[in-house]
Amino acid sequence: MSLLIKGGTVVTAEGTLDADVVVEGEKIAALLARGAATIGSAYDTIDATDMYVIPGGIDAHTHMEMPFGGTFSADTFETGTRAAAHGGTTAIIDFAVQAKGTSLLAALDKWHSKADGNCAIDYGFHMIVSDVNDSTLKEMDACISAGVNSFKMFMAYPGVFYATDGEILLAMQQASRSGATVMMHAENGIAIDQLVAQAIAAGRTDPVNHGLTRPPELEGEATSRAITLAKVADCPLYIVHLSASQALAAVAQARDAGQNVFAETCPQYLYLSIDDLARPDFEGAKFVASPPLRPKEHQDSLWRGLRTNDLSVVSTDHCPFCFKDQKELGRGDFSKIPNGMPGVEHRMDLLHAGVVAGQLTLARWVEVASTTPARMFGLYPRKGVIAAGSDADIVIYDPHARQTLSAATHHMNVDYSAYEGMEITGRVVTTLARGRVVIDDGTYQGSPGYGTFLPRGLNQYLL
Ligand code: URP
Ligand code: ZN
Ligand code: ZN
Repeated sequence: MSLLIKGGTVVTAEGTLDADVVVEGEKIAALLARGAATIGSAYDTIDATDMYVIPGGIDAHTHMEMPFGGTFSADTFETGTRAAAHGGTTAIIDFAVQAKGTSLLAALDKWHSKADGNCAIDYGFHMIVSDVNDSTLKEMDACISAGVNSFKMFMAYPGVFYATDGEILLAMQQASRSGATVMMHAENGIAIDQLVAQAIAAGRTDPVNHGLTRPPELEGEATSRAITLAKVADCPLYIVHLSASQALAAVAQARDAGQNVFAETCPQYLYLSIDDLARPDFEGAKFVASPPLRPKEHQDSLWRGLRTNDLSVVSTDHCPFCFKDQKELGRGDFSKIPNGMPGVEHRMDLLHAGVVAGQLTLARWVEVASTTPARMFGLYPRKGVIAAGSDADIVIYDPHARQTLSAATHHMNVDYSAYEGMEITGRVVTTLARGRVVIDDGTYQGSPGYGTFLPRGLNQYLL
C-alpha cells in the first residue's frame, strides 16, 4: 500500500508549498495538491497538519567509532545513526581514517566493516588521508571508483594526521585530475603546538587553554594557505568545521573571485563560545574540539555567512567522548583531552532554532541541512529533496513543540549534552528513511542494517 503524508507544509530549498506527499516503497511517487488524493485511493496515511514536511537531514561530517587521542569516539555506527534519526537526519557521511603506514583501501574496508549491518540510516564515507606517498596518491582514484571522492587533510595535529604543504599540494593535484574535492582541517598546527608547549610549561593546564592556544588568526592563516594551494593545484576545496571570522573572510574572498571553494560550519560554533571552555571544575573539557569554540562575536559572522552562502553547509563534526574516563584523560593537561563534541542528534533542531530567532529562512534551513550537502557530495537528487523519484527520506517536523535538550533524554551514547538545559522550539515527530518509519513520536522503529552504503558522485557545484 502507498503512504500518503497529508495536510503538511512541504519545505524545500526553494520555499514552501501546501502539498500531500505520496510514497511508494522506498521512493517519493508524487506531490499532490492538498486533498487531491483522498478520493478512490488506498493509502496508509500520516496526518501532517500544522507540521513541516522536509527532506531528511544529511550530516556530511561525523566520526563514529573514531580512534583519536588514545581512545575511540563513543558512538558506534549503530548508536550514532539511531540518534541521528531521532533528530531528523536520514543520511550521514562519516570519515574513514587512513592510519600512517596503511593504505586508503584498507581504511575503507575497515570503515565498511564497522558500518555494514549496523546503520539505521544510509551512510557514505569521506577518506582521511594522513600518509601521502606514491601508492596513497594512486589509491585515491580507486577510492573514487568505490564511491568515495572527498579526501580530508589536516594542517593541524602534527605527528598524527598533519600533512605538509607539499603533501597537500600533491594530493590536491591528484584530486584535481578527477574532480574530487579536498576537505581541509585548516589550523596552523605547527604554530599551535608551540603555543601549547608554552602554556603547559607555564602551568596553564585548564581546558580553556585549548582555546587560547589555537587563536582564530591561525585558522584564518591556514584557510588562506589552503585556498592558495587549491588554486595552484586547480582543486575543489571544502573547508570543514569553519569557526572563525578570519577564515570566513578568506573563503568569501575566494568565492567572490570564482574559485571552487566551499565551507561548512557546525552548530557548536553558532551557539557555544570560549566561555563554555572556561567553565570551572574541568567542565570546560566537554567543549574541547578543534578548531576551538571562539569568542561570541564570531557567531554573528557565521550566521551571516550562512545567509550569504559563503558558508554552504552545516554539519556536526559529531565526535563524542564521554566526560567520565575519556575527557578526563586530560585532567591536569588540556592537550590530552580527546578533541571532539557530540551533536549528530540536534543539528536540525538547532538550525530550526535559528529560523525561530530570525537568523535563517525556512528554505535556507532545509538548504544548509539537506539539499546543499546532497549536491556538494554527489547525492542529489536521490537525497536532499522532496520530489518524485527521490528517496523517501522525509521528516515531519512540529515547529511549535517545545523541548529541553539534555543528556537525560538524548539518544547519543555519551554522558553529557553540550546544550544541557537549552530550551528550543521545534521537534521531530516522524522520520522516514527510504519510505520506512524509523522514528515515530520519539520512538525508534528502525533496525540496525537498514541503512545502506551510498556511493557518491562528484561535487555538483563546481564552476
Ligand atoms: O575536535 C574535533 N573536531 N574532532 C574530530 C576530528 C576533526 O578534526 O574533525
Ligand atoms: Zn578536523
Ligand atoms: Zn571532524
